[in-house]
Amino acid sequence: MWQWLSGYDQKLKEQPILHKALYELLENAISNGVLHAGDKLPPHRKLASKLGIAVATVTKVYRQAERQGLIYAKVGRGSFVTSVPVLPQAIRAKGHQHINLSIIKPQVSITEPYLSNHLAELSHQTGLADLMDYPPEGGSLTDQQTAIEWLSHAGVVIENKAISICHGAQHGLMLLYNAVTQYGDCIAVENHCYPGIISLANQLSRQLIGIEMDLEGMIPEALEIACQHHKIKMLIVVASHQNPTTSIMSKQRRKNIAEIVKKYNIWLVDDDVYGFLSPHLPPISNYAPQQSFYLTSLSKSILPGLRVGYLVSPPSFKRRIEAEIRNSIWMPSSLTLALTTKLIYSGDAIKIQKTQSELAEQRQKMAYRILQNCEFSAHKNSYHLWLKLPNGWSSEQFSEKLKQYGVLVASADYFCVKELISLAAIRISLMAAKSNEELDFALKRIAKLYTHKR
Ligand SMILES: Cc1ncc(COP(=O)(O)O)c(C=O)c1O
Repeated sequence: MWQWLSGYDQKLKEQPILHKALYELLENAISNGVLHAGDKLPPHRKLASKLGIAVATVTKVYRQAERQGLIYAKVGRGSFVTSVPVLPQAIRAKGHQHINLSIIKPQVSITEPYLSNHLAELSHQTGLADLMDYPPEGGSLTDQQTAIEWLSHAGVVIENKAISICHGAQHGLMLLYNAVTQYGDCIAVENHCYPGIISLANQLSRQLIGIEMDLEGMIPEALEIACQHHKIKMLIVVASHQNPTTSIMSKQRRKNIAEIVKKYNIWLVDDDVYGFLSPHLPPISNYAPQQSFYLTSLSKSILPGLRVGYLVSPPSFKRRIEAEIRNSIWMPSSLTLALTTKLIYSGDAIKIQKTQSELAEQRQKMAYRILQNCEFSAHKNSYHLWLKLPNGWSSEQFSEKLKQYGVLVASADYFCVKELISLAAIRISLMAAKSNEELDFALKRIAKLYTHKR
């Protein structure tokens, strides 16, 4: 409990202002790994009496650390060190010597020829310089129409809604954290969720409430209990091909979750980046249109590097969201929006999306064959699968061992919402493999390690 204070006297010589010295000591201890995520800090009074300083000084230091997202306070339980942002760790470096199945992305080689054509056309277009200029706020009229055209394929309700163009779904989530919630607010999420959601909560000091899941994703009864125990401001749901578990909510489950959203007056964020893989299912936000935000991007269906996302919001949020866009990126790039318009209006985007989905289906069949003796969940055309590990393996040990065999996967720990015990599982992205041969090789390595006695 006290180890991180060992350099206190020395620190005071360098930084005589008490609260600054103590803050720097705490900050260093966290960044140097002396204090770890989840470690409990001494209570205010106890620390003040140990150092012979005023309780108010400790309070000031803890408040500042909370604002910086270094620690978080739990009523009646004390202050704890937050996890470091998990996103950069979960998504491993490219590592040329490895087969990287740790990131969910489409097969870029499918999109490449289309992109090449449209880029060539764009380069001959008159008024190209306009695309390099500051674009109009909210994108041009054409960009708005392109958004409407694309969203019509997703079947999302857009009547009486505002549409904002963002820099991909991660940016959309950040806009919503800032526009809908405030410091310390509770946000309900699936208990294993996309690491970008966790990373944002750590950085912006929002409290995540992990809701239990089954094969269909978030369990409505568990959400209802959480609503009775916490003042939940916002709920984030990935209803189709959930990341990481691949669960898909049935229509009935979507309705049930939406009913709870209405009953407890919560804002619903429908993160539908994988929705195109199950086009027969309506977006969950359609069941509570007045209380929800629909978010999607072209990252998974077309190309992650486009960084184009669409956010559909109740009109009362339009100004707040536009202000958040200006504060964060000023405005999306006109050049990529022009490219997106070409991809969508030429009909190529739909073709690419269909081909990606077909490849995912083919790769799921491969996985089903090679991993037949392993326990995993996935759907017919999911981009990824969720492999439950046999007894004796932890997620980290298994993924480290696979790394030694040349295969990178994502360990369950990165998806686990704070304070929950993580499952022994790994997420394998099938679409990230550059070829079917590469995937075949990697899956066989995984199957071999899985069946190998520990
Ligand atoms: C559920 C979910 N939401 C959002 C994102 C972020 O997508 P984008 O690349 O558009 O920022 C991801 C990326 O993996 C995701 O899985």
